[in-house]
Amino acid sequence: MYRIENLEYNKRVTVHAPGTVANLVCGFDILGLCLHEPHDVMHVTLLDEPKVVIESLDGYPLPADPQLNTAGAPLLEMIHEVDATVGFHVSIQKNIKPGSGVGSSAASAAGAVVAANHLLGNIFSPTDLVRFAMAGEKVASGVKHADNVAPCIIGGVTLIRSIFPLDIVSIPSPELFVTVVHPQIEIRTADARQILRKEVLLKDAIKQWGNIAGLVAGFMQNDLSLIGRSLEDVIIEPVRSILIPGFSDVKQQCKEAGALGGGISGSGPSIFMLSKDEPTATAVEQVMKDVYNKLGIPYHTYVTTINQQGVTKAS
Ligand code: HSE
Repeated sequence: MYRIENLEYNKRVTVHAPGTVANLVCGFDILGLCLHEPHDVMHVTLLDEPKVVIESLDGYPLPADPQLNTAGAPLLEMIHEVDATVGFHVSIQKNIKPGSGVGSSAASAAGAVVAANHLLGNIFSPTDLVRFAMAGEKVASGVKHADNVAPCIIGGVTLIRSIFPLDIVSIPSPELFVTVVHPQIEIRTADARQILRKEVLLKDAIKQWGNIAGLVAGFMQNDLSLIGRSLEDVIIEPVRSILIPGFSDVKQQCKEAGALGGGISGSGPSIFMLSKDEPTATAVEQVMKDVYNKLGIPYHTYVTTINQQGVTKAS
């Protein structure tokens, strides 16, 4: 229990809660990186009653019961660990669409707990905040996973070595560009997890852990070719890519345009590609646009970089 004195009730903090790319192709549930764009804007106000009120600023229908809300559930967990009467009012401008694959639920959860922690005098550690935020992921997908909330809170590339107990490792990375295309179809993470096989072949596991180790080593050694070679997934992508129209064309043509590699962002439908410089990332964006224009599927694209800060306080 954390005891807090001199609370400033009615004080309001605004944060930017960025999107994230979970899995990084080969690292299902254990790797993720933080983006600069897109990001949600969240205003959180400290209340003198133990309750959580969630308000949508842009008409997204959000569950009124905070237990069922990705921002509300983490705040309720946080309130339980504070030895003072506190509550929070949260208003959210959701720029990251739910079901997009760029960490929409994680942004709500992470933004809420980082803002609330500011209002409480930053008593909780980043690991505590990730622990609270995972309650939001449980609401969204039925399972606690930290590969979106950890990079969203901590920034950069993160490895989640374990979630029980939480063991998060920040991985240094080169300044890469990230191109994301979000075809405007919705894939619920819970559904995208449901279709996965429960068992893997040893030969596939060997390939996969070779790639995970290669990707981490590539980031740490600034070895772009190793990063590219390691962005390969023999377990999850063959199953999930079926849900994403145009996936194999995007992947193949983006690599031909110079991308190091990439794949499904989180549980999809967004697809991300890493590039060494901005001109390549922009050429990759054009390839993505061409594929979805041809398919007649509306989309959004982002050309952005790895965000080393995570959730930031705007005011
Ligand atoms: N690791 C999670 C999954 C991320 O792929 O289901 C969801 O964004």
